Amino acid sequence: MMKKLLILMMTVICAVAMLAAGCGGDKKEAKKAEPAKVLRVGTEPTFAPFEFQKEGSKDYDGFDMDLARAIGKQIGAKVEIVNMGFDALIPALNANNIDLIAAGMSITDERKKAITFSDPYYTSGLIIMVNKDNKEIKSDKDLEGKRIAVQIGTTGEKKARSIKNAKVTAFNTNTEAAMELKNKGVDAVINDSPVVGYYLAQGGNKTAMTVGEVMEAEQYGLAVKKGNDKLAADVNKALAELKKNGEYDKIYKTWFGEVKK
Ligand code: ARG
Repeated sequence: MMKKLLILMMTVICAVAMLAAGCGGDKKEAKKAEPAKVLRVGTEPTFAPFEFQKEGSKDYDGFDMDLARAIGKQIGAKVEIVNMGFDALIPALNANNIDLIAAGMSITDERKKAITFSDPYYTSGLIIMVNKDNKEIKSDKDLEGKRIAVQIGTTGEKKARSIKNAKVTAFNTNTEAAMELKNKGVDAVINDSPVVGYYLAQGGNKTAMTVGEVMEAEQYGLAVKKGNDKLAADVNKALAELKKNGEYDKIYKTWFGEVKK
């Protein structure tokens, strides 16, 4: 009697143990088999403090980069930054070579025809930078017929091309556009105000300054391929969560020093 009971008990224990082990094992395997989600984020990194590479470093720094990584965390994806020309970002998105654009890209009606923007995440605007010894250019009205450097494919380029008789040179990077002003190859640069402000504050060009007011407000948006509504919704949800939980403010403070009112 005792022996039978013992055998029965042992059988039950074994069965329970096997079940537990079996289940646990299965779960673990299922987790392992599931590939880590990767979010390929395209950017053009000559746009500090939004995206840039510190000298000698391959890492991507900046407000957009931190924001993209925080969004990746929210949606459970590993962020992989892909470096390309600014004018290559929209084609890359549409060719499925990247999943998301994070490049200080202004939301414009023209771009909206090609891609889907997230909710706006930063308010910006264009500004003019000239050499301090330039006594002629005080605002965009004085740019007529002048030589202007811009980054290719940007709203700055569009603005420059709308100025009568302006001789516009479009560079692949903002570094080159800024250098051209330093070398006096152009009379002015048109670029985003926070980027020019950061460049001057960091001592990028001690003989340059901004003139005039920030031209009309532009909103930065992240962008996904048209039809990728799932990712667009996930990104907007993540953005809202980061604004709510204080993470957005923390990132903002890192790069702009104070929290936007
Ligand atoms: N906001 C401007 C635009 O959308 C300039 C953006 C340039 N961004 C960059 N990562 N280089 O055209």
